[in-house]
Amino acid sequence: MRSASDDRSTLPIGVFDSGVGGLTVLAALRRRLPQEAMIYLGDTARVPYGPKSPETVASYTGEAVAHLVALGIKLLVVACNTATVHALAALERDHPDLPILGVVEPGAMAAAAGSKSGRIAVIATEGTVRSGAYEAAIGRIRPAATVEARACGLLVALAEEGWAEDAIAEGVLRRYLGPLFERDPHRAPDCLVLGCTHFPLFTPAIRTLFGPWVTLIDSSATVADAAADLLAARGLLRAGAAGVRTIRYLATDAPDRFARIASRFLGEWIAPTIVERVLLPAPSATL
Ligand code: DGL
Repeated sequence: MRSASDDRSTLPIGVFDSGVGGLTVLAALRRRLPQEAMIYLGDTARVPYGPKSPETVASYTGEAVAHLVALGIKLLVVACNTATVHALAALERDHPDLPILGVVEPGAMAAAAGSKSGRIAVIATEGTVRSGAYEAAIGRIRPAATVEARACGLLVALAEEGWAEDAIAEGVLRRYLGPLFERDPHRAPDCLVLGCTHFPLFTPAIRTLFGPWVTLIDSSATVADAAADLLAARGLLRAGAAGVRTIRYLATDAPDRFARIASRFLGEWIAPTIVERVLLPAPSATL
């Protein structure tokens, strides 16, 4: 019989992102798994990951995840496309006993199922686009699909600034997405993957600019469903009433800035005093 101390089901879910974008995934996890405790770690001191090399992203992600693992988690959600692309394989190798979910595969599955025409566009960071990860993942599921990926790095800064529904964002979106959508309707995609966890904030602007008929894929709900299924399959769902749980927020840079932006992403006030500052790499690791 399992003793209370071996009961991993009471441990929190760890959620990692390069900054605040992964809060869109945290929000979906909270809705889907209201009884689960969670620890969110945003590497705000080293964001953005999008333009950085695969090696740097893998190394930063490894350090952040080691911190979450040391705190004790039962499931890791890599709530960052760029980190998923460059670090998921290494994380699975380094933590063989920890269930780990990335965001690319669920997004690719939703896009392959959600497109009628098979013409799919992906917007993501430079690193994600360069990796070709979405083309490969969608191609495995729906080989006849055509996938066009565009790097939209400026959108990350606009989302963090709170300008996702501003005229400036509309101009930037037109510049990035106009060539994809404002062309012969027989060549335009009918499905757009928001392949960066910051991008769901642009949903209203994208709908206004490019039409309500475009299917937008925000993988956060799919990831939350996958997390629920995985925990259930492993007997790791936490028993107890919804809402009786804690969410910890960890950031590698200023808690007040994190709290301000997090409040916007989550649509609720996060007090700066509850955000814990974490130093990465851990001080002992630098000796
Ligand atoms: N959260 C990252 C992603 O989903 C984007 C932000 C960054 O460039 O670090 O790819």
